Amino acid sequence: MVVVAILAAGRGTRMKSNLPKVLHSLGGKSLVERVIQSVEPLQPERQMVIVGYQAALVKTALVPIPDLEFVEQTVQLGTGHAIQQLLPHLEGYKGDLLVLNGDVPLLRSETIKHFLQIHQENQNAATVLTAKLPNPKGYGRVFCDDNNVLQQIVEDKDCTAPQRENQRINAGVYCFRWQDLEKILPHLQANNAQKEYYLTDAVTQVTPVMAVDVEDFQEIGGINDRLQLSGAYDILQARIKEKWMKAGVTLIDSASITIDEAVELEPDVIIEPQTHLRGNTVIKAGSRIGPGSLIENSLIGENVTVRYSVIDHSVVQNETQIGPYAHLRGHVEVGEKCRVGNFVELKNTKLGNGTKTAHLSYLGDTTTGTKVNIGAGTITANYDGVNKHKTIIGNNTKTGSNSVLVAPITLGNDVYVAAGSTITDNVPDNSLVIARQRQVIKEGWEMKKK
Ligand code: UD1
Ligand code: CA
Repeated sequence: MVVVAILAAGRGTRMKSNLPKVLHSLGGKSLVERVIQSVEPLQPERQMVIVGYQAALVKTALVPIPDLEFVEQTVQLGTGHAIQQLLPHLEGYKGDLLVLNGDVPLLRSETIKHFLQIHQENQNAATVLTAKLPNPKGYGRVFCDDNNVLQQIVEDKDCTAPQRENQRINAGVYCFRWQDLEKILPHLQANNAQKEYYLTDAVTQVTPVMAVDVEDFQEIGGINDRLQLSGAYDILQARIKEKWMKAGVTLIDSASITIDEAVELEPDVIIEPQTHLRGNTVIKAGSRIGPGSLIENSLIGENVTVRYSVIDHSVVQNETQIGPYAHLRGHVEVGEKCRVGNFVELKNTKLGNGTKTAHLSYLGDTTTGTKVNIGAGTITANYDGVNKHKTIIGNNTKTGSNSVLVAPITLGNDVYVAAGSTITDNVPDNSLVIARQRQVIKEGWEMKKK
């Protein structure tokens, strides 16, 4: 039986921000959201988030996550004081309390599970997750005796110079037998440099207590300032990239690439430099993305190439070429073996298989058949200043360079639009349509003028 408490009431002064620290975003998710997600697989009996600084804002941000209980700590007098707020809520509770800091976002679920297991197997009164850090500055130092029995935790600010040399630190993850902790909590003292009630003092007032070292110290990095936030992002990215490279994806100049956690990549995908894959993007086998591309919440089929382009909320089918410099602005579906080329913008548009729009076009609210050729500079005039209108183009139709299609409009199959035409009326199948002034030549005009 385990109840989880997440400490999220602090302001995070060192962030120098109006936003509460735990709401700062790390790779698209807030710090506290990451901590909550890391305990999900444990299926805790209750999840209590301790909020205080800008509590309403923190609660609102967490609304989408079900089954959270919020406990308010109206003044922030330290981590021990924060846990004191649980006393009325956990009266009579007989199980364990797992405490996590809301600003330690990279912990793996497996690590927490393993930690909890050790706590329960040894029937400890308290277990503390620790690590030996090359640079322990800022963390509480953990002191154990020769038998690895925890003796005290001294905060960085309270350390003497020799104590500060100790590289074993407190990760801010604890498990307590609640019945033991609830007796200690009311008696915590604030006899320290920060005049705070430290949860770390409670740890040493129960027995038996055990310190457990984490395997990978990168997991327990606490975020106190923007430098640490940036460092955590790098660690997160390194994890994601390693996973995909091991799964058969090539990353060229991987430091210049960013990939969100939700992205899915198939083997033999190649990601070129300066490319960013965001949200729920899926890229199928053999596709080559980049250099210089941004793909968000989109599905890219097999053997597609995308160069120097932006694709948002769209689908691109197999064997299609996108770019350079194309913008699929949302709700775009490009069929198989298509080409969307230089300086082409598509919005809410569906291109049938084998369709090409190679240069300088805008297609909005448009549906094309198969093997259509959109000439250079073809523009759909889809907006009349009030409403958006649709353009429908049949199979094998070709628009000449610099045509304007004034929507709502339908061009049939096998239509030819003469270059420079402005089309305002529907065109039936198999027709040539010309909508421009006939060229007039006045021979000898220059001589007459003189
Ligand atoms: C804390 C630990 C330190 C440990 C480090 C690990 C204590 C006394 N120290 O230090 O030993 O090495 O975490 O990252 O616990 N919070 C509240 N209410 C408060 C104060 C803080 O909810 O009154 C929350 C904060 O929002 C934060 C967490 O508790 O999520 C930790 O607080 P912080 O001030 O960052 O503690 P550290 O100095 O990092
Ligand atoms: Ca901290």
